[in-house]
Amino acid sequence: EVPRHDEVAIDVAVFGGSGLYSLLDDAREVAVETPYGPPSAPVTVAEVEGRSVGFMPRHGVGHTIPPHRIDYRANLWAMKHLGATDVILPCAVGSLRTDIAPGSFVLADQLVDRTRGRIDTFHDGPEVTHVSFAEPYDAEMRGVALSAARSLDIDVHEAGTLVVIQGPRFSTKAESRWFSAQGWDIVGMTQYPEAPLARELEMAALNISLVTDFDAGLEDDPDVPAVTSAAVLEVFRANTENLRRLLFAIIPALPLSPDRPALHALRDAHL
Ligand code: ADE
Repeated sequence: EVPRHDEVAIDVAVFGGSGLYSLLDDAREVAVETPYGPPSAPVTVAEVEGRSVGFMPRHGVGHTIPPHRIDYRANLWAMKHLGATDVILPCAVGSLRTDIAPGSFVLADQLVDRTRGRIDTFHDGPEVTHVSFAEPYDAEMRGVALSAARSLDIDVHEAGTLVVIQGPRFSTKAESRWFSAQGWDIVGMTQYPEAPLARELEMAALNISLVTDFDAGLEDDPDVPAVTSAAVLEVFRANTENLRRLLFAIIPALPLSPDRPALHALRDAHL
């Protein structure tokens, strides 16, 4: 059980990805201490149409923390401590399919973990707990995000499988070809273990992937080169306004039903 903060209460948590370092105006900064050490940054808290929202840039305020060094447990624990029931997890991703273009958004509904060595659980014993993770993201939140994106005329894919690589390097051509051949759609570096840790804290999660590149390039079009980190930031920045508009359209609709499975993930999870 995560104890609640005595002064600050939020409904919705948002983590900023590469290129999204602030979200809320007139925000109050709350430094949260956690049993896992300090989170990536203080949480900025503000009201958005009656919802109390907490924002944290997962790579730190000045983008100083690489994906494999983020203390995902501290970040998620901090948001739960402030009372968040719903977490929105935007991130930059590469596309593994020609029909998913840079600048478009994917609302991932599935994850594949290709990371290693990351601390990915709160359940280290002595109580043994296995949460269900067949559906890593909340279907109702995805529905809201899809309608919001469509009403804003944002190019959006309603589902997709996101493979999370360890990084910080990008993939080889052979790895990228293999990922595509598996039927995986997009590749990123941060949704694992962010999504399972949210589940362990019984928070419902929504992924918003912003496609920044065609990963290792397009084999039949040599004019589309392999991704660079400069290209990721440039495309992310060019689309930040769309991401903001999308977030501000989604937030007023949250939280949704209290019966959603993620909110009761621990019910049958103890051995
Ligand atoms: N983030 C943005 N583009 C990426 C890519 N091609 N691979 C992994 N993470 C990414």
